[in-house]
Amino acid sequence: MLLFIFVIAFLLGEGCTSALGTDLGPKMPLIVNGSRTYYYGLTHQGTAVQAESFCRKHNMDLLSIETQEEHLFLQQSLLSYLDLNTAQQTFIWTSGKRVDGDRWIWEATGRPVHYKNWWAEQPDNDGGIENCLELWYKPEFPGQIKWNDIYCNNTSRYFICEYNNKDANIDNVY
Ligand SMILES: *[C@@H]1O[C@H](CO)[C@@H](O)[C@H](O)[C@H]1NC(C)=O
Ligand SMILES: *[C@@H]1O[C@H](CO)[C@@H](O)[C@H](O)[C@H]1NC(C)=O
Ligand SMILES: *[C@@H]1O[C@H](CO)[C@@H](O)[C@H](O)[C@H]1NC(C)=O
Repeated sequence: MLLFIFVIAFLLGEGCTSALGTDLGPKMPLIVNGSRTYYYGLTHQGTAVQAESFCRKHNMDLLSIETQEEHLFLQQSLLSYLDLNTAQQTFIWTSGKRVDGDRWIWEATGRPVHYKNWWAEQPDNDGGIENCLELWYKPEFPGQIKWNDIYCNNTSRYFICEYNNKDANIDNVY
C-alpha cells in the first residue's frame, strides 16, 4: 500500500513538472538544414545552465550562430514557430558568453563571436552581470529576432540545441 501511494505521488509529481528537466513536453521537430540540425526548445524554460544540460543530455550543444546566413535561416524558421498573435516577447538561450569586457565567444565551439546581430544599444551589460547571449523577439518589430545580453540565471528563457555530428541522441529528444 505504501509503495502504491509512493508510485502515485511520483507520477503526479512528474506530471506537474513544467520547468526544464527530464520531462520533455510535447514533441518538437528537429530542424535540419544541410549538415546542421537544431532542436527548438520552445516548450520549456530555464536558466542557461539548465538549457545547456538539457542539450548535453541529448548529445547536442546550445546554439552557436556562425554566419549571417545561419542567423537569417533561424530567424525565418523560428518566426513560424512563435505564436506571433500573442504579442509576447520571446527570449531564447544560445551558447554565447561574455568572456571579458566586450569580448564574446560561442562557448559550445570555443570560437569568438564574429558575425553579430545585436539589438540597438545592446549589449549593455546592465548591472554589470549580463554575461549570456540570448535571441530576443520583440512584437513591436515583427519579422525580426536579434540579440541581447542578459544575466545567465534568468529562469524564463527558451533555448535552441544544435548538433553537427551524427551522435546526437535524437530518439530521446521528445
Ligand atoms: C540553410 O541555411 C543556409 C545558411 O546557413 C541558408 O542560406 C539556406 O537558405 C538554408 N536552407 C534552407 C533550405 O532553408
Ligand atoms: C543572478 O546572478 C547574479 C550574478 O551574476 C546575481 O547578482 C543575482 O542575484 C542572481 N539572481 C538570481 C535570481 O539568482
Ligand atoms: C527574467 O526576465 C524576465 C524578462 O526579461 C523578467 O520579467 C523576470 O523577472 C526575470 N526572472 C528572473 C528570475 O530573473
